[in-house]
Amino acid sequence: MAEPKQNPLMEKIVSLCKRRGFVFQSSEIYGGINGFWDYGPLGAELKRNVKELWWNTMTRSRDDVAGLEATIIMAPEIWKASGHVATFSDPMIDCKTCKGRFRADQISEIPCPQKPSKCVGECHGEKTEARAFNLMFQTYVGPVQDDSAIAYLRPETAQAIFAQFKNVLETSRQKVPFGIAQVGKAFRNEVTPRNFTFRSREFEQMELEFFIKPDEVIEAIYGTVAVRTPNSQLLSPQPNWGWQAWHHYWVEERVRFYEGIGLSRETLGFHHQTPAELAHYARACTDILFKFPFSKKDADGNVTGDELEGIAARSDFDLSQHQRFSGKPMGVFDEELRAAWAKLPKEKQDDLWKRYYDHRKNYLTKSAKPDETPEQISLQATEDANGLAKGQYIPHVIEPSAGVDRLILALIANAYSEVTKTDDKGKSETTVVMKFHPRVAPIKVGVFPLLKNKPELVAKAQAVYELLRPHLKAVYDDGGSIGKRYARQDEAGTPFCVTIDFDTLGEKPELLDTVTIRHRDDGKQERLNISELLDFLLSKIRG
Ligand code: GAP
Repeated sequence: MAEPKQNPLMEKIVSLCKRRGFVFQSSEIYGGINGFWDYGPLGAELKRNVKELWWNTMTRSRDDVAGLEATIIMAPEIWKASGHVATFSDPMIDCKTCKGRFRADQISEIPCPQKPSKCVGECHGEKTEARAFNLMFQTYVGPVQDDSAIAYLRPETAQAIFAQFKNVLETSRQKVPFGIAQVGKAFRNEVTPRNFTFRSREFEQMELEFFIKPDEVIEAIYGTVAVRTPNSQLLSPQPNWGWQAWHHYWVEERVRFYEGIGLSRETLGFHHQTPAELAHYARACTDILFKFPFSKKDADGNVTGDELEGIAARSDFDLSQHQRFSGKPMGVFDEELRAAWAKLPKEKQDDLWKRYYDHRKNYLTKSAKPDETPEQISLQATEDANGLAKGQYIPHVIEPSAGVDRLILALIANAYSEVTKTDDKGKSETTVVMKFHPRVAPIKVGVFPLLKNKPELVAKAQAVYELLRPHLKAVYDDGGSIGKRYARQDEAGTPFCVTIDFDTLGEKPELLDTVTIRHRDDGKQERLNISELLDFLLSKIRG
């Protein structure tokens, strides 16, 4: 696998991933395909656990989020409306000497593919000017391969949520504020995929679009907009929250999610996008970072980390774009707003009307099609602001958007630890222990008979295995010494191992039907009754 030779820890992680079946290079037997990765048996379990935890946290344990599972290929108009056809590109340059293609903003970090030893860190050949390279994978739908059949593999899961907003709203009986969540594949033809799975060409996203009332609507209904500051306590959502409070809430929720699966705050970082970095329609975006082994140090020598997830306050841009491009209304009707508006003093109505008008006009001006005149824009903004009195508005959105594969890589890097033991003869051996949180660990428990040539031990161990496996991912192992079996499970990150020994069979009558449980991280063992085993394990895994 073409991985950075200069990063020994990443090399160890990549090698462990292949050796233990977490991640394989896609199409490896044909020399691989750059930017594509497969998940092996342990990786597939880990990924499944992560997606399920995200889904449970974001949808099933909340009343205000509904799920969606949309297609990967959608009408190409969606990507015109979202701006991806026009602007989803990276600046690309070619090297005239080595013929390599690079992202212009990363050129100094990339070794020359032709003479890596001579040009480590920088290719010295003459470069072309940077030009925009659209990252969407293009294909054709149907048998005729002409421009009318062009379609794209989705570069994000988010747009399907906006396109289906009305259908979900009508069928889920939700009311704003509420969210729509989706987990699924996304594809980007990255110019330079790198850092193992961190920047891939095919990956998965876990995205939530959380729709909220515009601040003008909150103010009309509740008088003021509640603002949460970074130090304010974590409160449950309140009806008078504006976009800032919701944005802050979702950043905290997402950090709590990461903490709950073993990524402590110390391993995370934050990047608050500057006004220059923000898209013109966005009001704020906070990136949650993880300190990967390849993450660089800032000017002060601190590792800040690389992006795991972005939480963006995207205003009403996305729904507005789909309304304009599809001609279908994307607004909602809110009886509370209609009733409250009628009771507002005239000056307040005028103030809110003007602010909403200005916001809409600003959006319409910046997103105008070439044939739209300033008069048409003013007319549309007036119509939009007049809608407030009728209880109509286009919802704004907060978008926590996470990458599954980056999270898997973060969990693997975070779990990786080495233990060196020296025996009586002074011989040292270093083994790997993957300290996954039990919630995400690919295998939850290993079940071993002390000896494999004792049928009574084997039968009892098999019975314990059968007892556990309907409820959690368990493995049965009777190969080699107990020490070797522990080491195998340590490398896989299995938090608990259960051994069935002669005491289980009643050699000491008071220990009949008890087993030893060995804890991965400290090696401690305790004895537990078989009847308590499942509850014990489930409490550790779910707790
Ligand atoms: N809908 C918003 C959106 O797609 P993004 O920052 O482009 O925002 C969101 O992507 C997340 O998807 C990122 O934080 C990252 O975790 C993941 N992601 C994006 N590009 C990726 C790539 N090439 N390989 C792996 N993960 C990627």
